Amino acid sequence: MSVKLIIGSFWGDEGKGKCSYYESQNADIVIRATGGSNAGHTVIVNDKKYALHLLPSSIINPNVLSIIGPGVVIDLKELHDEMELIKKASIRLNLIISDKASIVLPENKEMDAFIEEHRTKPVGTTGRGIGPAYADKCYRIALRMCDLTKNIPFDIIGFKSISPTTSMLLASSKTLNFLNEFKNYFKDYICDTQQIINNAIFNDKKIIIEGAQATYLDKDHGDYPYVTSSNPIASGACCGAGIGPKYVTEVYGVMKAYCSRVGEGPFPTELFNEIGNSIRELGHEYGTTTKRPRRCGWLDLVRAKNAVVLNSFTYWTVNHIDTLGKIGEKYGEIKVCTAYNYKGKKIDYVPTNLTDIKPIYQTFTGGWSTEGCKTYEDLPIEAKNYIKFIEDYTKVPVKYIGIGPDNKDVIIKET
Ligand code: IMP
Repeated sequence: MSVKLIIGSFWGDEGKGKCSYYESQNADIVIRATGGSNAGHTVIVNDKKYALHLLPSSIINPNVLSIIGPGVVIDLKELHDEMELIKKASIRLNLIISDKASIVLPENKEMDAFIEEHRTKPVGTTGRGIGPAYADKCYRIALRMCDLTKNIPFDIIGFKSISPTTSMLLASSKTLNFLNEFKNYFKDYICDTQQIINNAIFNDKKIIIEGAQATYLDKDHGDYPYVTSSNPIASGACCGAGIGPKYVTEVYGVMKAYCSRVGEGPFPTELFNEIGNSIRELGHEYGTTTKRPRRCGWLDLVRAKNAVVLNSFTYWTVNHIDTLGKIGEKYGEIKVCTAYNYKGKKIDYVPTNLTDIKPIYQTFTGGWSTEGCKTYEDLPIEAKNYIKFIEDYTKVPVKYIGIGPDNKDVIIKET
C-alpha cells in the first residue's frame, strides 16, 4: 500500500500535473482532492496537449481509476466539457465523482465577480466562483453531487422558510436549468467514493492524491487575503480526498527552479525587469485557466523551507531547470533568495506581515544547457550544484527534475 501526495510549494502552476502523470504510471488510483476549475494543468502526452481544470491528470491513462474527491467544488459545465474532450480523444473515461463534492452554481460565479469588483484591493481571483461555493458549504446550504440524483429543486432545499440564499436559489430559473441540464450526464459517475478508497487502502493499492493550487494560496497558511478558499497543503489534500495522515507514505513538493504567481499578493523575489520578462517568455508563463501573464522572479528558498514543514515534504520535484539554465546563460548569473531583510533585520522565516520584506540573495555565476540530457549524470555540473543547493538548504532530496514541457522530459535522481 502506498499513498503519495503531490503538492504545490509556492503559488501554483509548478507543474504538478506532470509529476502526477509520471507517478500515476504505477498507481491504481489518483484522487483530485481540493479546489475547482480555478486550477489548471496542461498535460502533454505524445505531443498532444490536454488543458485540464477539474479532472486529475491521470485521466489520460484509462488503467488508473481517477477520482474527484469530496473536497472539490465542481462546475458542472466545465467538468462536462473536459469529460467530452477526453472521450473525443478516444480515451476510456475511468472516473468516479464523490457524491459529497459540492456544486459551483452560476450564482457563485456572479458573487465572485461582485465581491472582486467591490473590494478596495482585489484578490485577483480566477472568477470561477470558488470562494462563494466553499462559503455555501460552510453555511451548509451548498448543493452536492448527490443532490443531482434527487428531484430538483424541492427535495434538496430543506428549509422551513425562505432565507435570502434559498430564495435566490429557488427564484433562479437559470440555476434550475443549469442543474437539470447536467443531471443525467453525471448520474453514472457519481458514487460514494469513500467505500472505494477504504477498500483500496485495506487491499494495499497504490494511491496518489493530486493537490490543486499550492502552499501559499492556503487559506490558513498562505498570504491571506491573497489566497484561495481551500487548504491546498498536504493535510488539506488528505482531508479533501478522505485519507488520514497515517497512510501517507510520500509527499512530493513541486516547485519550479524559479518562482511565479498569478493574481495579487506578496512576492518578495518578483523581477520587474527584462530578466522577469525573459523567464515569462522562455518558461511560457501564462495562466492555463485565465491566460493571464504570470509574475516571475527568483526562487525563494525561505518559503520553500517553510513549505517543507507545512507539508512534510519527503521529496522535491524541481521543474524548469532547462528554463533557468537559459536565463543564466543569457544574463550571466542566477539568484536564489536565502534570507529576508525584515525591517533592517536578517531573518530566515516567513513573517505574517510581508510588506517590509527585501530578499537577500545567493548568486550563481553563468547558466547551463540540458539539451540531450537523459540521466542525472548527463546534467552539467552547474545544474547539479543548483539542485544540491536546494537539497542542502531545505534538507529534502530532489527526486524529479523537469527539463522540458513534455511528460517525458523528466530526469529521475537516485535519492
Ligand atoms: P480563486 O481560487 O479563484 O478564488 O483565486 C484566489 C487566488 O488564487 C488568486 O490569486 C488566483 O490567481 C489564485 N489561484 C487560484 N487557483 C490557482 C491555480 O491553480 N494556480 C495559480 N494560482 C491560482
